[in-house]
Amino acid sequence: RTEQPHIVTCTAPVNIAVIKYWGKRNEDIILPINSSLSVTLHQDQLKTTTTVATSRSFQEDRIWLNGKEEDITHPRLQSCLREIRRLARKRRNDGDSGVDSASLSHKVHICSVNNFPTAAGLASSAAGFACLVYSLARVFGVEGELSGIARQGSGSACRSMYGGFVQWIMGNKEDGKDSLAQQVEPETHWPELRILVLVASAERKPVGSTSGMQTSVKTSCLLKHRAESVVPGRMVEMTEAIRKKDFAAFAELTMKDSNQFHATCLDTYPPIFYLNHVSQQIISLVHRYNKHYGETRVAYTFDAGPNAVIFTLQQHVPEFVHMVQYFFPPETNGAEQVNQDACILLGSF
Ligand code: PMV
Repeated sequence: RTEQPHIVTCTAPVNIAVIKYWGKRNEDIILPINSSLSVTLHQDQLKTTTTVATSRSFQEDRIWLNGKEEDITHPRLQSCLREIRRLARKRRNDGDSGVDSASLSHKVHICSVNNFPTAAGLASSAAGFACLVYSLARVFGVEGELSGIARQGSGSACRSMYGGFVQWIMGNKEDGKDSLAQQVEPETHWPELRILVLVASAERKPVGSTSGMQTSVKTSCLLKHRAESVVPGRMVEMTEAIRKKDFAAFAELTMKDSNQFHATCLDTYPPIFYLNHVSQQIISLVHRYNKHYGETRVAYTFDAGPNAVIFTLQQHVPEFVHMVQYFFPPETNGAEQVNQDACILLGSF
């Protein structure tokens, strides 16, 4: 009997946190010290595409990221592979095997590519692990709740398992069974909302999120205060702002939460600087713009890097983009966008 190789290709988009996750209470299975909330981009924008193939002729599990083979023994990759195979085995033992799914004894070859510059430091691990877990699940015939597995690849990846507005509930169980992502509103909820990415630097971040979080948890008392006394209230307010499509409330909370996250980085010892002078210029520009109109029309947020993610409403995009281009003029010598001080990478949600 010749067995056909099983091949599955999936895509998963990047998500942008408006209430930030920063700090783990369990490093092994990735349990956060606070809940978080994000917006998942549309499928055709910043995304990862992953193909998983299984075949009896494969000798070992292997993975290629953007065309380069990477180390499959990476512990978080191993957690995802192990958990999916465990669920698949359980399904089969329960007599519920997917008719057409791959044999569990077969090894996998995984090939994953991003359609955006990985070097730009945009949340690539979130889309990457979400896509990996979903593709593996499809190939081995696993269905149902998968965000708990994606979380064990990269915390923020659990939120890319759903579209639209998504919360990651921190949970309180030690085994992490209740630390899962949940959709707050679907992608169709707020069609006028737009997301722009302003690339302030394409350099790799100096401190990765894993080690940054570790030092912050150990040394920042502001982080402890934030997790215990600030984020719980903000989760409620943010959910309400999104539900009511109250842009001003959504935007103000988004900016305050980004600022507090970067303040905890500064409160970390030794301090971590993710923002650069271009990021600071963008922050002032947004505040001056909003002040000029006497209303909050634009919001910024920054992750563990200097690039700004801008939220605004459809009707304000042309004018805001025009203003950014005025202050950060595009280069005329045909150089790559990433060589500019700031450039616009993406124009919609
Ligand atoms: O999932 P990680 O380890 O890449 O951490 C993500 C941390 C932030 O992007 C800064 C915040 C967030 O909630 O996405």
